[in-house]
Amino acid sequence: MTSVALAFSGGLDTTVCVSLLKEEYGYDDVVGVTVDVGQPESEFEEAKATAEAHGLDIHVVDAKDEFADLCFDSVRANATYQGYPLGTALARPVIANAILDVAKEEGCDALAHGCTGKGNDQLRFEVIWRASDLDVVAPVREMGLTREWEKQYAEEKGLPVQAGNDGVWSIDTNLWSRSIEGGQLEDPSYIPPEDIYEWTETPQGETGTVEIAFENGYPVAVDGEEMEPADLIEHLNEVAGAYGVGRTDMMEDRMLGLKVRENYEHPAATTLLTAHEGLEQLVLTKEERDFKEQIDQQWANKGYQGLVDAPFVKALEGFIDETQTRVTGTVTVKFDGGRTRPVARESDYAVYSEEAASFNTKTVGGITQEDATGVAKYHGFQSRLANAAVAKATKDKPELATDGGDEKAETDE
Ligand code: ARG
Repeated sequence: MTSVALAFSGGLDTTVCVSLLKEEYGYDDVVGVTVDVGQPESEFEEAKATAEAHGLDIHVVDAKDEFADLCFDSVRANATYQGYPLGTALARPVIANAILDVAKEEGCDALAHGCTGKGNDQLRFEVIWRASDLDVVAPVREMGLTREWEKQYAEEKGLPVQAGNDGVWSIDTNLWSRSIEGGQLEDPSYIPPEDIYEWTETPQGETGTVEIAFENGYPVAVDGEEMEPADLIEHLNEVAGAYGVGRTDMMEDRMLGLKVRENYEHPAATTLLTAHEGLEQLVLTKEERDFKEQIDQQWANKGYQGLVDAPFVKALEGFIDETQTRVTGTVTVKFDGGRTRPVARESDYAVYSEEAASFNTKTVGGITQEDATGVAKYHGFQSRLANAAVAKATKDKPELATDGGDEKAETDE
């Protein structure tokens, strides 16, 4: 008796996989695993209904809290990839680990996903699964299936596939973002219709504000009300979504080198990232901010690749942890025309000193204005020396000094 644990969503790809794993791959049993990372309730109902019609035994694993924690780690790293806050990317390791746990509990021989050979998700799943000693199978990729073939196969087999929004778009939803792709959206010149959006209203003239409190870089409260991570994210998706905040329409460079057109909605992510950066501006020194930008960029790249467990990421987080010890305070974010910007910040760790920056104080920390005179004299000293040396060395060689003198050559002729 052989069995395989399948990442199951109830969508077309994974539904077709249930049959193929038995018929083509010869597994006696398929265990469906659906992992809750904040999808809408309707998706679970759909998955359950499809599974039931299949006689498929499914496990639903709640990983919302774990996923929300990872989203907050990404806030500490100000993480976006080419402008996208990584919702799908960060959810994959959480899902892959949950499925692996079920597979082990159930004594499965193998793990399966319904990803194609073109996307990122196959890599994000398999990097985790291949560290186990279970087999990994990917029917859609290995059999070179197209969506058209799958639709026909499902029909022939009488497989219950619910098309969702008529299968017009391919949608991936979790707490952190909602991604919409496929169909006509694959044409970069096609302007997306408003109805692809579910979380965000069309931005109108109305403005609003929200106050986010952070402790050690982690968001802990909204407008003075403390909330658990998953609740805080859901709450902000509603609040900021009503102002049309957090839409991205982009050309994305996938890991395999393909460019794709992607649309995303992520109101909470945009709000929290704006607020967090606003607070870092207040409490971190310039060197920390400059260097952290590089650290953050690396974190985001690894996040996109599904490699949040890499030793490299742990090392990056060493730096991040140290900086975040002072990222405690509040930031007010303004929603305006679908955009966000910090409009007020407060922290006990503010590096800012109103007294020092003010025009109205004479001495601060024993330093007076006149002390800047020496600094001003020295400022740019080395450039001055270098420029003077060049001027001197080239004084008697005008042809060198004018350099690239095509005009001169012409007049000489
Ligand atoms: N391209 C994105 C990523 O790799 C998200 C893809 C989501 N999938 C979908 N069917 N909408 O992170």
